[in-house]
Amino acid sequence: MQLAEMETEKKALPLPAELTLVIPTFNERGNLRELIRRVDAALTGVEWEMIVVDDDSPDGTSALAKKISHDDPRIRCLRRVNRRGLAGACIEGMLASSAPVVAVMDADLQHDERILPQMLQRLREGIDLVVGSRHVEGGSADEGFSARRAAISRFAHRLAQKALHADFSDLMSGFFMVRREIIEECAPHLTSSGFKILADVVASARKPLKIEEVGYTFRERQAGESKFDIKVGLDFLGLLLNKASGGRIPVRFIFFALVGSTGVALHLATVNLALLVPGVGFPLAQSIAVAVAMTSNFFINNVITYRDAQLKGFWPLLRGLLYFYAVCAFGAIANVGVAAWLYNLYPLVSLSALAGVVMGAVWNFTLSSLFVWRQD
Ligand code: GDD
Ligand code: MN
Repeated sequence: MQLAEMETEKKALPLPAELTLVIPTFNERGNLRELIRRVDAALTGVEWEMIVVDDDSPDGTSALAKKISHDDPRIRCLRRVNRRGLAGACIEGMLASSAPVVAVMDADLQHDERILPQMLQRLREGIDLVVGSRHVEGGSADEGFSARRAAISRFAHRLAQKALHADFSDLMSGFFMVRREIIEECAPHLTSSGFKILADVVASARKPLKIEEVGYTFRERQAGESKFDIKVGLDFLGLLLNKASGGRIPVRFIFFALVGSTGVALHLATVNLALLVPGVGFPLAQSIAVAVAMTSNFFINNVITYRDAQLKGFWPLLRGLLYFYAVCAFGAIANVGVAAWLYNLYPLVSLSALAGVVMGAVWNFTLSSLFVWRQD
């Protein structure tokens, strides 16, 4: 082949994308075509591509995405099976890109695609990360948010700012654009569960990032329903605590310990209540409280700490509960053993008692993870 011919052939190839849009989806079939239409309209003059990362949605989102990619090769789909998780989907999508810039955006048309060119412009000018923000001037959350959600979001966000020392306003945003190299560098340190990918990226970045915000109005969801719930909020809390401990304490243990502390509160309340009943002495009151607290811990852990391995149905729940009682008994032995041993070495009551509690919690957690809730 002549060199000239090769040149023309090369020209016929599409230009490499400057921007990869990563779109996490779960049951977004009804929004996909409209999303692509809007993105295409917003990004005229930009070489872009889209990676739809679908967690095997029952509504067939991935099949539709793949069908669309026959007519429009800028669209690709990454179908993940037997896995769920927004953050993980975003990370995998971003790592599948080879463009210099990647963006994450929801599929449900709540994020305003018209600010994409402005975001890209800021990156071209040397900014590392641009956040589509509902709180800066020109941004608003009035349309798409319920009052309760708005309050949770404000609270989570104040907490996050403190924990991550980040001073931009929409840390919970699922709409952002970033240099791909930043993601490549911090990817091994990111958590793949939950919704808090942006805060995680900021906390895990290898160097301080130049961050800017562009405001937009959070729109009503068009089709389908939101997957954001209280568990998502808890997950976020777990991430903050994990980062605050320098990543040394696993998120699941943090939840386990938090649930344990609700158990302690419940225990104290129950003892005091039971003692009000005539004829009930302290040993009985204490025993009732132990049973109540353990049972409550079991059910809360089942929906929060081990939600991915949740036990359902009467028999699995009963079996799990009995195992959990057994595990707690071991935990109590570990607790008392360590506390007594330490007290012998250094007769400091609070220190020994606390060491016992921590030891008991670690035991309970380890045994629960092994025997009560098995994760694959
Ligand atoms: N692949 C995948 N896997 N995608 C998911 C999953 C999942 O497990 N869960 C949700 N998604 C997709 C949805 O299909 C949607 O495109 C996007 O992630 C956001 O999910 P929504 O369920 O619509 O979230 P939201 O609107 O309630 O939450 C928004 O606000 C939060 C902050 O308050 C999002 O922008 C979040 O990213 C943001 O943290
Ligand atoms: Mn949404």
